[in-house]
Order: sequence, then C-alpha cells, then structure tokens
Amino acid sequence: MPFANCPATKRSRIRHPLYIFCPLLFCTLLLCYILLSSAFVTKMSNEKADQMIRSSSVEEMSSVDLDSAFGPSGFRGLVRSSNILFYSLFASLGGFLFGYDQGVISGVLVMRDFEKRFPRVGGNGDLQGWVVSIMQLGAFVGALINSPLADRFSRRYSIAVACVAFLIGSVLQAGAIDNSMLFIGRFIGGIGLGQISMGVPLWIGEIAPPNLRGSAVTLQQFAIACGIMISFWLDYGTQYIGGIGEGQSQLAWRLPFALRVIPAIALLIGCFFILPFSPRWLVKVRREHEALAVLSRLRKLPENHPIVQAEIMQIKAGARFDALTIKEKFPNAKTSAQIAYQQYKELFTQKHLAKRLFVACFLQFLQQFTGVNAIIYYAPKMFKSIGLSGNSVSLLATGVVGIINVVATVPAIGIVDNYGRRVVLMFGAIFMSLSHFIIATLYAIYEHSWAEHLFAGWAAAAFVWFFVFNFAYSVGCIAWIYPTEIFPLGVRAQAMGIAISVNWISNFVIGLITPIMLNHIKFGTFYFFFAFTMVLFCWVMFFLPETKGVPMEEMDKLWGGSEGKETADRMGRIQNELKCESRNVPIYSKTSSYSDDLDIEMQEQY
Ligand code: BGC
Repeated sequence: MPFANCPATKRSRIRHPLYIFCPLLFCTLLLCYILLSSAFVTKMSNEKADQMIRSSSVEEMSSVDLDSAFGPSGFRGLVRSSNILFYSLFASLGGFLFGYDQGVISGVLVMRDFEKRFPRVGGNGDLQGWVVSIMQLGAFVGALINSPLADRFSRRYSIAVACVAFLIGSVLQAGAIDNSMLFIGRFIGGIGLGQISMGVPLWIGEIAPPNLRGSAVTLQQFAIACGIMISFWLDYGTQYIGGIGEGQSQLAWRLPFALRVIPAIALLIGCFFILPFSPRWLVKVRREHEALAVLSRLRKLPENHPIVQAEIMQIKAGARFDALTIKEKFPNAKTSAQIAYQQYKELFTQKHLAKRLFVACFLQFLQQFTGVNAIIYYAPKMFKSIGLSGNSVSLLATGVVGIINVVATVPAIGIVDNYGRRVVLMFGAIFMSLSHFIIATLYAIYEHSWAEHLFAGWAAAAFVWFFVFNFAYSVGCIAWIYPTEIFPLGVRAQAMGIAISVNWISNFVIGLITPIMLNHIKFGTFYFFFAFTMVLFCWVMFFLPETKGVPMEEMDKLWGGSEGKETADRMGRIQNELKCESRNVPIYSKTSSYSDDLDIEMQEQY
C-alpha cells in the first residue's frame, strides 16, 4: 500500500493542530475548484457565441458546415463555450470522488488507530487486499447497473442515485465499528463510484459539441487526478490528529472518509438544480421540445438558430434511426425490458457494434494494464525497492507522482480535440513503453546494488514520473473519451456500462497481482507492463479509427454501421421525415406512417 513504511508508521507523540487545518485545507481546495468553474462562467457569460454562421436555413447546412460552425476546440473552445465548461467541471466532481476514493484508503490503512480497531484490515492484516479490492468489485457492479438507470431515469438522475449510494457507503466507512460495516460500506460506496464513473463521462459526452467533446470529458480525468492527489496529502495531514503514535485519534481516519460527503452532496444537489438533462437522452425519450430548449441553452444560441436546428435534427435522426432499426428488426419487442435485451444482444451480434464494444473494452483493459494503478497503489514500495531509502524520500517521490498526474492532464484538455485521439495515444504509449523498459532494465542491472548506485535509483524514479506524465495526457483521458463517443444512442449506455466495468475489473486484477509480481518477478513487473504499453501503441497505430470532431450521430460511418441498402433506405426515410417536420409539412400520411407508430412506441417505453 502506498503508505506502507511511510513516516506515518513511525509512532510519535507529537500533537498537531491539523485536525483543524486538514478539513480547512480540504474545504478550501474544494471551494477553489467550484469557484474556478463559476468564475469562468461569470467571466464568459457575456461573451457572444461567435460560432454563429449566417446560414439561411437548416437544410442548407451540411454536417460538414455544422462541424466547423461549432468553432475552435481545446482551451479556446472551452473558454468560449463557458456553459459546457461550467457543466463539465461541475459534473467532474464525480471524477473528484472517484480519484479521492481510490487514494484515501491507502493512507488510512496504515494509521495507528485504524490498525488497532481493525487488526485484520490495517497494517499487514490478512484482509487488507480485500478491503481495497471490494470497492473495485462494487464499482464493477455499479458501472453495469447504471446503464438501465441512465436510459430509464436519465443520465442526470442516475448520477444522483450514484451519489446516494456513495453517501451511504461513505457514512458506513466513516462510522465503521467492525470489519463487516467497513466492507459493506466499501462495497456500497464502490457501486456509487462505478455508476459515477460511467454516468459522468456519458453525460458530458452527450452535452458537448463535437469540437469540445474530448476536452470536456478530459476534465473528468483532471478531477480524478486532483482527487487522488488531495486524498494523498489529506491522509498525510490527518494522521497527526492526536499524534501518530498510540494516542492517535480515531478522527485521523474517520475524517478523510467523512469529508468526501461534501463533494458528493454538492453533486447530488447539482443533479437536481444545476445540471440539465442530456439533450440526447431527451430526444431518445421523445421529449424533443425540452431537448431543443436545453440545446439552445448549452450552445447559448436561440432555439431557431440554424446551428441549434441542424444539431437537433442530427440528434433526432440518430435517435429515430436507432428506434426504427429496433422496430423493423424486432417487431415483437414491445416492453422496455424486451427492447433492452435486444439492444444488449445487438451489441454482441452486430458486427459493427461488436467491433466498437471490443475497442471500448480493450482500451479500458489496456489503460489499466499500462500499470498506472500499480504505481498509484504501490509507489512507496516501488520507490523503496529501487533504492530510494528513507521513508520520507519514498513518500515525497510518491507525492510527486500525484502532482505530475494532475499537471500533465492539463495539456490534454488542449490537445485531444486538436491533434486527435490516435496521435496523442501513440505518443503516450511509446513514452510509457520507454519508461517501463528503462525502469525494468535499471532494476535488472542494479537489483542488488542500488545503495552503491544512487544515481540509478533516481533515474528509475524519474522514469516512473515520466511514465505518469505520459499516462495522464494520453490514455488516462482518452480511455474515458472514446467509449462516450463511438456508440449509437440506442446502445450507448449499455455499451459504456460494459466498457467501464472492464476498467474496474482490470483495476481489481492489477491491485491483486502487482504485489505478487513485485515480490516474485521483481524487475519483470516492468517488462510485463512494457509489453502492454507496446500492444497499446501497435493497436492504436494499426487499428484504432480517429474520432476527433466526428459528430456522434455520424460515427456509424467509421465502423461500417451505415453500409447496406436497407440501412441507407431507413436513414433516407428519416431524413425526409425530419425535413418535412422542419418545414411544418404534416408527415403523418399513409406513406410515412412509421413515424407516428414510432412516436407512440418510443413514448410507451419510457
Ligand atoms: C484510471 C484510474 C487511475 C487514474 C489515475 C484513471 O483514468 O481509470 O484507474 O487511477 O486514471 O489518474
């Protein structure tokens, strides 16, 4: 565990006023985060949305025009679209909870009072691995169950449900009096976290325009990194409450568990009063007027503006296409359960959907098998094993990991939508491989003589940091962006649920195998991760399609989903219908009557 052997474990009688300082620091940082996001909004809210183009009608606007009409990407784009920036930052509180929860347990486990109360869990207890991993198992379940919730009750309310689960989990952990309470709390909290990790990027991806989708989703990775870093330093501070020796107060560990309820409550309230519904979900459930209103608010343009009109048409076309496909292919599927079943089945049986599902899941798997959590969870142990002797040195080296992880996520906000997913992933992968290779080789050479070769130890540490840097701007972010954008609306939530659950189960496996590998194959651990980062590089280079700037509704073209005459006919009919609607021509004639049937059926499902 990251805090194993850290100064925290040296018992001392020093008493610090940190029981006041730590909550204050935590609240200040949280407040800064919220203030920063609101400051952006206040500053930008008067700016005219200058993405307006002077198209005279919706029909004149091709999708190519529409893409360029959204304006610049990256930082400039986000600053101009202050609404998207604000909402994405706010929803990213979910990412903050994610990172915080990942980071907080490691410090708690080695606190003296915690060890005394939970001897089988704290210190070197036999249940220690499980108390960490049970959260990831809960998250695995949470990511899967969030799909039906996000489809049925909306993305936004599914995040609210997640916050409630997270709150229950946090209260149980903060108030734990025995192992079972702790384990149940970790599991329930994990469910909430899994839901959040699926619901937040899904929601952000659906509110963002194509030019900002990558940058907006990247904000959640930024928040994850902030959460990890803050929890690390917070644990470090609260351990002094009552002194780090025998007299340590129970507040030392209860407080870090308890404090996370603050962002969770903020997010819960935000789900009802701040975050709007996803316009794509609204269209999916046929609340199209509301979808139009939300879209116009998000784009800061009037409802009748050609950009808004063209975008809503694109979304409607996508949604109707999905619904019509289901209706024509599965005429007997009437209830929402039957339809959901067919959608899950389609994901595995339709070639182009199965391909996308594989890509999303494999990317999640590879993100974890780059070894990032091996470092996040076991950094102090690693730093010690490469010769950085002294607890404070290895602890400091670990602290640097947290800081680099945050700092390196910032450039990603600017580059993923400008340079594209592929190039960023390839850069990241090749430098991560290089780092693993060098660490492994140094380790192999100096395994028994670190003490005499201090420089080698520091070089290895520098490459651990270099690895984290390259992870943070590349696969750290893109693994979250990619699944939000490649699936059609009809199966998006289901597919994301499966992909994110793969992330959690891989995270779980890494947590379990890393200490075993470090003990047995030692430097081989880094060659092991080197192999996976090389796989990531080659796979991206040869197989991964670029999705930068492609509207969600046009992703089919990348994956062969719109091929075939039947599909083209279906899309043609929908486009004609939408053109009629936009001209207010009555479309419910005999020849185009599928539309009203579809309407009724779609409404019945929800
Ligand atoms: C990963 C986490 C990891 C974090 C590090 C996320 O993208 O999913 O497992 O701990 O990045 O910043």
